[in-house]
Amino acid sequence: MLVALTNSCHKRIDDISVMSILVLNGPNLSRLGKREPEVYGYRTLDDINLELMESFPELSLEFFQSEDEGALLEKLFHIEDKGGYTGVVLNAGALTHYSIALRDAISAVTIPVVEVHLSNIYAREEFRRTSVISEVCVGVISGFGANSYHLGIRALLGIVGNDQL
Ligand code: DQA
Repeated sequence: MLVALTNSCHKRIDDISVMSILVLNGPNLSRLGKREPEVYGYRTLDDINLELMESFPELSLEFFQSEDEGALLEKLFHIEDKGGYTGVVLNAGALTHYSIALRDAISAVTIPVVEVHLSNIYAREEFRRTSVISEVCVGVISGFGANSYHLGIRALLGIVGNDQL
């Protein structure tokens, strides 16, 4: 855990404490908890977001979900223009598999985006095994349930840590 870092790492803790990360969720993820729980689990999106806040109290986490592709694009452009964000953890839902507009938007921003999925999309139906956004994301985490979001945040922190070396 970050809180267990020694005194010599205090600067790093301070740096991390000001990091802002956007957790961005696409279509149908508002239905978590009710939607196919055998695939996506019983936690609601609010449950997951609350757990993230509890796990990363040193971060400034922002949460945004929309059923609307355009709203997701606008949110990405908004935080890019605003600046000050370390990265984005994105579960694009079904848009993952076909949205060239979302892919282009991720390409258009400089903020690193980590693609996450609750389910293992490579162990499901054929159409889910293609992600049109993976190539423009810094990495993909798929199949760890709600933990995929936690791992996505850790991955972003790792990127920034490496950049600071
Ligand atoms: C999902 C996988 C997608 O195929 C699906 O359309 C979703 C959720 C996941 O988190 O496992 O909506 O992104």
